[in-house]
Amino acid sequence: MSVGEFLKPWIPHLTPYKAGVTLPGLVKLASNENNWGPSPKVVEALKGAAVDVYRYPYKDEEVRSAVAKYAGVSVDNVVLGNGSDELIDLILKAFRGPALSFNPSFSEYRIISQTLGTEFWEVDLLPDFSLPVENFGKIGGKANIIFVATPNNPTGGVVSQKDLVSILKLGKITVVDEAYFEFCGETIVPLIKKHPNLIVLRTLSKAFGLAGLRIGYAVSNPEIIACLMAAKPPFNINYLAAEAALAALADIPYMKKTTGAIIRDRPRLMRGLSECFTAYPSEANFVFADVSPLTAEEAYRFFVGKGFVVRSFGRFPNFGGEYIRVTVGTTDETSGFLKVLDGLRRSRKQRQH
Ligand SMILES: Cc1ncc(COP(=O)(O)O)c(C=O)c1O
Repeated sequence: MSVGEFLKPWIPHLTPYKAGVTLPGLVKLASNENNWGPSPKVVEALKGAAVDVYRYPYKDEEVRSAVAKYAGVSVDNVVLGNGSDELIDLILKAFRGPALSFNPSFSEYRIISQTLGTEFWEVDLLPDFSLPVENFGKIGGKANIIFVATPNNPTGGVVSQKDLVSILKLGKITVVDEAYFEFCGETIVPLIKKHPNLIVLRTLSKAFGLAGLRIGYAVSNPEIIACLMAAKPPFNINYLAAEAALAALADIPYMKKTTGAIIRDRPRLMRGLSECFTAYPSEANFVFADVSPLTAEEAYRFFVGKGFVVRSFGRFPNFGGEYIRVTVGTTDETSGFLKVLDGLRRSRKQRQH
């Protein structure tokens, strides 16, 4: 018997998701986590809940209510996911392709589509990494599911409400991924009533500092939510994740304090990166940069040598640069990273003289 006889033929050709690297002892600026950490109330709740982990999770409804209150919608507008990654998977299981997204954007749209055998198309962003809305209708009109991340990962730019509405008007299942919503403040959630084809994705991984617990949510109209609930595995939010989510959502001031610090530090990081490379304006908790003529791998190794792990992307199809992405860490981490950039700038200047 050979495994290949039973395997779906596209599976051996998949490229798995490449996560940001964690190197013990180094400052990680590679996965857009909130390096300020979760609220101390989350840590307390997790300690208290540890003895109860023999129970199956049973607080989904409580968490849905807390999320609904936070997002300003009703409980029947919310479904929870094991990270927003799982919601991308659920959407692609529930709805027929072809699916469409942009290049570059969050790679999971492509990876999950390809894993499920769903046809997947990518449209190049414009050279400044903005959305090519003008000619988008032709190809968008042929897809059934459209994924738009705003702010976009890895580029950091936002898509205007006007552009999102023009995409929504194509009448396809439109997934607006707001993973970084708290760092930009703009949301399309209020439009779920007007546009029955709109699904908004959010996560507690970023602003709320719960990446390790895997909890995200989708906001949409009750009909779509009921379909996603039906397609969802049971107990997808584990017991500790539910407790942590409840504690995090009950401590909004802490989330606002840490995201506020990140938003304040973002322009410093942007300026520092711009002095050495081509950096792009960001409304998220990271800055995207073209490090050419260095390769992204050379830049990655340089920063690792100085104690910082950034995310190396290398090249993107049809774009000329060599790209890295740097998360805005704590204020001290940003100051440390800026010193490294300053050292690089000075040594380059000396070499020019
Ligand atoms: C745009 C975007 N969407 C979704 C996710 C997935 O987040 P999670 O599965 O941790 O909720 C990420 C994570 O980096 C992201 O950048």
